Amino acid sequence: GQVIVWGPGSLSNLGPGFDALGLCIQGLGDRVEAWRTDTPGVHLVAANGLPGSHIPEDPQTNTAAVAAQAVLRQAAAQHGVALRLHKGLPAGSGLGSSAASAVAGAWAANLLLEQPLPREALVEAVLEGEAVAAGSRHGDNVLAALFGGLVLVSASNPLLYRRIPLPAPLSIALILPQVEILTRTARNILPREVPLRDAVHNAAALAFLVDAFRCGDWETVGRWMMADRLVEPVRATLVPCYEAVRHAALEAGAFGCALTGSGPSMFALAANEQQAQRILSAMLEASNQSGIAAQGFVTAV
Ligand code: HSE
Repeated sequence: GQVIVWGPGSLSNLGPGFDALGLCIQGLGDRVEAWRTDTPGVHLVAANGLPGSHIPEDPQTNTAAVAAQAVLRQAAAQHGVALRLHKGLPAGSGLGSSAASAVAGAWAANLLLEQPLPREALVEAVLEGEAVAAGSRHGDNVLAALFGGLVLVSASNPLLYRRIPLPAPLSIALILPQVEILTRTARNILPREVPLRDAVHNAAALAFLVDAFRCGDWETVGRWMMADRLVEPVRATLVPCYEAVRHAALEAGAFGCALTGSGPSMFALAANEQQAQRILSAMLEASNQSGIAAQGFVTAV
């Protein structure tokens, strides 16, 4: 039979958690249809990108196919898998587009095994899938997409991770300004060395942030989410509407507002869906007034 699998989008960094925090979001993501084939290996039947996006159709470089292949190899499967990928997330948006595809590909291949592996066993496969797109093995988006919710990820080798349960619902206003930022560029402009006082500030900010997430204290989450001194101030210079959008979100009552991943997308935290809608309108208007067209969504965790 055929399986249909959803790979969710995710926010990453969340202010001071550069490469360390990922948050899975609802309603935005990629979809994979998959079925078994007698010929071994992964066959990418189609990869439907969004207009203007270029999704690799070579199974060696497509993240969904690479992750699926890793699962087949791990399980020593005799059969192959055909994949049809439908992208719902634009690449280069900061919403974990490649991670969503990797998770959908791996999970689809897993479901088609005689004996599917437990979720934890797919970590290596999804990291491998993400690495072909990102060029490095950061797990913040991909592990949030695999496990759902908030995930802490280490920068160590081997990579360690921990899922943090969130005690209360959270609504999110999200905008995608039409500004192109390559993750590579957004990483290359970061300083190689940082002042100790800023590193100390960030260590405390991340600790307070994670504690507030555990407590479901969204007001405190919002405050620490905006306290990054190492990465976001540098990247903000790549997003011309950054200050205006952040100001508008806070004026409209958001708990906090920050870039996600390497940008340009920005998100704001709200108590409920209605408030998130109001905040979203304010963010979109601010972006337009800065001369940057943007798409917007309300989502939840
Ligand atoms: N944590 C990574 C970064 C995510 O901010 O560069 C890239 O999508």
